Amino acid sequence: MANNHRTIGNVCRGIWNRLCLGIARLLFPAQLRTPFYKMAGVKIGKGSKIAATVDIDHSAPELITIGENVWVTRGVMLLCHQRDLTQYEVGKPVMDCELKYAPIVIKDGAHIGIGAIIMPGVTIGKGAIIGAGAVVTRDIPDYCVAVGSPARVIKDFAAKSREA
Ligand SMILES: CC(C)(COP(=O)(O)OP(=O)(O)OC[C@H]1O[C@@H](n2cnc3c(N)ncnc32)[C@H](O)[C@@H]1OP(=O)(O)O)[C@@H](O)C(=O)NCCC(=O)NCCS
Repeated sequence: MANNHRTIGNVCRGIWNRLCLGIARLLFPAQLRTPFYKMAGVKIGKGSKIAATVDIDHSAPELITIGENVWVTRGVMLLCHQRDLTQYEVGKPVMDCELKYAPIVIKDGAHIGIGAIIMPGVTIGKGAIIGAGAVVTRDIPDYCVAVGSPARVIKDFAAKSREA
């Protein structure tokens, strides 16, 4: 999906998203924030908490799906868009490349550590744990721990329980 075009509908949608996400940031506890994230289009399951300082991509919050009992901690960024570099070439401003959008899915029970960045198109598996400061560019399987930039799996609890 690519969308670089400024229509009245897009601008209104952008204002609405910024308003909902901005109000959410002011509220405490986390349960009060959830309806505002939902109004901006984020899908959030029961029992999930999003910290006040989480940066939700205001250009496409409807592309974010968060399961049940997920914890997205302080300073995390959920990013659903980036420039399409297949159109980039020497002498061309990168800003002339179209934006491309991709969904983020965070499955039930996942925990996203402080300051992590989740890149467009990534699925975080059920019960997965993302380390503080990780930059997640690829899908993370269920019940794995992933750290670093780019994030790599360092522990696999699913494999461990299969061995047991
Ligand atoms: C990722 C995390 C869950 C791993 O915990 P753990 O399984 O106990 O990890 P360990 O301490 O056994 O560390 C395993 C290895 O990963 C490294 N590591 C741990 N956390 C890391 C991180 N965030 N980034 C990079 N490397 C990390 C350790 O240095 C260690 O490396 P080594 O084997 O080369 O010595 C934890 O370190 C973390 O980042 N938790 C998030 C904290 C957070 O955001 N809390 C919010 C509370 S609301």
